[in-house]
Amino acid sequence: MKTQVKKEILKLKEEKNAVILAHYYAPDEVQELADFVGDSFYLAKIAKKSTADIIVFCGVYFMGESAKTLNPEKKVLMPSLAADCPMAHMVAEGKIEEMRERYDDLAVVCYINSTAELKSKSDVCVTSSNAISIVKSLPNKNIFFIPDKNLGAFVAEQVPEKNIILNDGYCPIHNAISVEEVKWEKANHPNALVLTHPECEAEILALSDYIGSTSEIISYAKESSCGEFIICTEEGVEFKLQKDNPEKKFYFPKTRPCCADMKLNTLENLLHVLRTEENEVVVSDKLSEAAIAPLDKMLELAR
Ligand code: 13P
Ligand code: SF4
Repeated sequence: MKTQVKKEILKLKEEKNAVILAHYYAPDEVQELADFVGDSFYLAKIAKKSTADIIVFCGVYFMGESAKTLNPEKKVLMPSLAADCPMAHMVAEGKIEEMRERYDDLAVVCYINSTAELKSKSDVCVTSSNAISIVKSLPNKNIFFIPDKNLGAFVAEQVPEKNIILNDGYCPIHNAISVEEVKWEKANHPNALVLTHPECEAEILALSDYIGSTSEIISYAKESSCGEFIICTEEGVEFKLQKDNPEKKFYFPKTRPCCADMKLNTLENLLHVLRTEENEVVVSDKLSEAAIAPLDKMLELAR
């Protein structure tokens, strides 16, 4: 059954000159058949330079929306339009305007995990892999970092010369990773290194040996001479970690971090959108024109 679905996806992909992009949190079988798998920064760059007629984005809505904004002439489809990142909406109405009034010399730095509406009100976008270097490179002293308080606090610690104002958004999956569970894993695997995504709370970061984006965690594990790791991010990364390092061991906190939205990217949904071309991501011209500048600025500053 699955083999037939996969075959049909690959056939339709060729016929329609489509490209399949998948985030590391998408289900294993989708990662396995995608043309490009990566973290949000890598996927945004791939979407920007794609020559395909159709981009099928197996991620959450803000990712498809960013791909469409960067590539307005392309058809961007998503296996499920209900796959949304709750954090993407977590900035209170009027907050950006309030901060702009309160501070002269303010840059609004917007984590890519945000709606196009929030991006359109920001100066520059960042992802977890480039946030530190981009914030460092800005001429502004005052930075309003939205929406993620945990990534914002991590950046603030790494860039002490800036006044970073935090917003109170967070990823419900990473924020729920428990200190007790990570300590338990450490106690049971004393030789393992702890690799953590910066969307986790400061107490988890403090227990970690390395902090990075999904692809940075994956590269770190591959290059390290250590043979076991405790992974503090969404469980989808296990597929690539295990594929790259069959001889190494990966442990997750007992309550395995799982993003239900990412798991809506099933093979069946993927086949359905390739067949029907339903679930097209639509971004109005007005919104797209306003949201593209901070995305382009990120691509330029991160180069
Ligand atoms: P990355 O940029 O590390 O892929 O993270 C995306 C994300 O949604 C993390 O929760
Ligand atoms: Fe959003 Fe968290 Fe899911 Fe990433 S893991 S898409 S930040 S809810």
